Order: sequence, then C-alpha cells, then structure tokens
Amino acid sequence: MGKIMGPVVAVHADWVGEALGIELTQASSLPLARRLYRALRAWIQSGRLASGCRLPSSRRLARELGVGRNSVLDAIDQLVAEGFLETRPGAGTFVADLPFGRPGTPSERPDDAPPTAVLSPRGERLLRFCAPSDGHHGAFPPGVPALDRFPRELWQRLLKRHQRRAPEAWLDYRAQGGVTALREVLCDYLRLSRSVRCRPEQVLVVQGAQQGFELIARMLGDPGDAVWMEEPGYGGAQACFDASGLELVPVPVDGEGMDPGGVPSGQADPRLIYVTPSHQYPSGVTMSLPRRLALLEAAETHGAWIVEDDYDSEFRYGQRPIAALQGLTESARVIYVGTLSKVLYPGLRLGYLVLPEALVEPFRRANARLHREGQYTVQAALGEFIAAGHFSRHVRQMRDCYRQRQALLRRALAPAVARGLVLSEGQAGMHLVAWLDDAGLEATLVERGAANGITLSPLSGYYLEAPGRPGLVLGYAGSRDDEILRAGRWLAQAWLSLVEG
Ligand SMILES: Cc1ncc(COP(=O)(O)O)c(C=O)c1O
Repeated sequence: MGKIMGPVVAVHADWVGEALGIELTQASSLPLARRLYRALRAWIQSGRLASGCRLPSSRRLARELGVGRNSVLDAIDQLVAEGFLETRPGAGTFVADLPFGRPGTPSERPDDAPPTAVLSPRGERLLRFCAPSDGHHGAFPPGVPALDRFPRELWQRLLKRHQRRAPEAWLDYRAQGGVTALREVLCDYLRLSRSVRCRPEQVLVVQGAQQGFELIARMLGDPGDAVWMEEPGYGGAQACFDASGLELVPVPVDGEGMDPGGVPSGQADPRLIYVTPSHQYPSGVTMSLPRRLALLEAAETHGAWIVEDDYDSEFRYGQRPIAALQGLTESARVIYVGTLSKVLYPGLRLGYLVLPEALVEPFRRANARLHREGQYTVQAALGEFIAAGHFSRHVRQMRDCYRQRQALLRRALAPAVARGLVLSEGQAGMHLVAWLDDAGLEATLVERGAANGITLSPLSGYYLEAPGRPGLVLGYAGSRDDEILRAGRWLAQAWLSLVEG
C-alpha cells in the first residue's frame, strides 16, 4: 500500500470511494479485499477517517470501485471484527470511537513523518522579510485599521445583492481589468480626491497592493535589475521585489522623503523606484515638491518606472490632502498603486493599479493569466459601496476615530514625552514613530512589550542595511481605546524606568 502523505485530514465519507479508487490503481499482488482492508485501517489509524465517520454502503462502494461486493464486505467485516469499525443496525457502518488522530496520539508508522522542508535559496531569502505572526492584535500592530468599526451588516447586504444579480459572464474567466463599474467609480474618486490623471481603462483591479507590486516586478524587471527602495521602508514591497530577483538599492529618506541624490555611486540604472510620497512608510514624512520633481526627472533620466504606493493618504488630520505624484505631470512614468486594506479592511484583498497607457494592455493580459481577476461580485459590491457614498462616510468616520485614537496614545505616552521621548508628528496615517537613540533600548522594549502582549515593531527592522535607526512603530488605528491607554501607559513607564533607571 502506498504511503499516506501530508497532514492528517479527516476524509469525508463521501470521498471514501474515490480515495479507495486511487488506492486500487497502485500495483499490488495482494487480494482485493486485503488491499481495501489495509487502506481503510491505515486511514483510521492515521486519523484521516475520523471516529464517528459513516462509511458509504458496501453496495455503493462496490459500484464506485467497480469491484465485487463480496470483496468490500470481507474488508469491512474484518475491520468490524477488529474493532476499527462498528455497525449500527439501520444506520450503517461507522468508524469506532478510537483515539487515533487526536493530539498526542502517535501515528501508525513513525516513518510517515512529513519530509523536512528544503527551501530554495530564494525561498530562504524571502523568509528574512517575513516575521512570524501569531495573528494577535492588541496594541500596537502597524497597518491594521479599526476592524470593529467596519459597517459589516451593510456590506453583507451589498454582497448578497450583487451575488444574486451576478450576470453569467462573471462565472467565467475574463480579462477586463476588473468590474467596469468599480473601475469607473475608483477613477472618479482618484481624479477628485487624489488628483490622479486617469481614465477607467487605466485602472486594473488587483487583489491587494501586494499583488500589484508582484505584477509590476514581473512585468518590468528581470532578475538582477535594480529597484530603488526607501530606507527605511515597507517590508511587504521589499519582500515582493526581492522575491522577484530584483536588486534592492536602499535610498535614504530624510525630512523631505526619498533623496535620489543619496543613491550610492556606481549603481546600475534602476528599472523601478518604489516610493510612498504622500506619507512615507514608516517615518511619516511627506515628500516635498522639489523632491517629487527630482524623482520624476530621475525616472526620466534612467528610463525607470516609479511605483507610487498611496496606501493610507485618506487619513490626514488638520492638513490638506496631498496630491498624488502621478498627477504632477502629463507624461509621468508613474504606476499608481492603491489599496482598500487600510481604508476598509485587509481581508478584503482588493487594490488597484493606475497604469500609464502603454502598460494597460500588457498588464491586463498578464494579470488575468497569472492571478485571474479576483471576485467580480465583491468588486461590484464595492463599486456600489463607493457610488452610494458609504465609502466616503466610512473614511470620514475613520478619520475622526483615528484622530481620537492617536490623541489617546499621545496622552498615555505624555509622561515619557515630558522626559524626552520623541514622537513623530502624526499629521496623517495610522501609526506614530517613537524615535529611540539606542538599539539596546529598542530591543529591550520590544521584548518586554511582547511579554506583556503588546506589539512593538522595531523601527530598525524596516531598514535594508544594518544598523537601522532604532525606534518603535506604534499602530493605533486598529487598537481599542482601552488597549491604547493600557499599553501606552505601560510603554511610558517602561521607557521611563529604562532611561531614568
Ligand atoms: C506601505 C504599505 N503599502 C501597502 C500596504 C497594503 O498592502 P495590501 O493591499 O497588499 O494589503 C500596506 C499594508 O500594510 C502598507 O503598509
């Protein structure tokens, strides 16, 4: 009998016939009844056939397997006699209540241990950008919006309505760049609120910014091509470009944003330049106009594409919205990347690219081939969510909510700030940076925070080149008020006791 591979997964009774059928395709000199007996016993012992699971009738199994019923009955009778199966008169044959497959129960054969993972060098490199996550969200995970404030009932209603109305074409493979109605409303929104220059045809709906970065890397870069990255910068984009084999060139960020003049000399021309000009991630700096113009010129000179990641610019407090870099000049070599992950919720997995005309057709075709186009009914529901004004209302409400949550965090940290802890300006976005002047202090606070259930993201980890500047990235948007106060007060005390002894 062949080995049962993979993790223990309970086989649903409906699939027993199919699974046995696969078993029987393997060459064996054993009699049929014996092979059926062995396969079923092994599945019960490994937990794949869970206690209480009802077997299909012997008649049905024989029919599905194309074998004589007696062979099936022989195998089942043997397993009943041994106590692996039990028959319940009038109800059928069931897997007996045995401890197999429960946590702590050894599997039948120790040699069934799963193979150890030998990753490709690229896979190993990729993991450097992927911190293990336990999915715990107390205070202060960066980049998480107020999930508790999302209008879920309204959203469910819209989803249901669009599911009911979905035309047959949406059940098919398509290559249209996403649902037209959504691309139209996104285009209106971007033109008005972000000064993006676009037509709906230029909008390509993707399943989150991350997928957009990946598509850009694959379509425009070859392994070894240089991509300028903000230093410090966003780990998601770093991971994506690195995994595509691009050479990440860290370009320093100062008070005006990425400084193209700071590119180390002797570097190859970049193919891509990744920036977050509206709200640099994670420092929070807004790129100045002279820098924007310098960057556009650098892209022109090098024949590079700028990837403008405009991930959270809806959230500005007290400042006028900053126009997108993409809209600055008519022929800008800019691919604008937007996401719904911050403004709505990350599990939605929706984002969009605004592509220069020359890239529209190739990107649309490649995306439909590589990733397919996502879920049209969800896209249509989002189109209505935006068109009906729910989106702008939610943005306004979240802006108020985040302003208040930031104020709470500042209040909780006030004792430390009074003694010298420096916080970023927080004119926008969903997190603050607490600047530290000592890597040891950063490490100790991160460790103690984790022990207290508080996520403190070390700023130095956002740098490609060590040693990064120490600090803490404190996401406040996704944490409840009481969590912000508790964790903020804890952090202020921890900082004071470490700094002042
Ligand atoms: C700088 C930046 N860009 C983009 C994203 C959004 O990524 P996605 O749309 O793949 O969820 C994030 C999310 O954390 C981010 O921090």
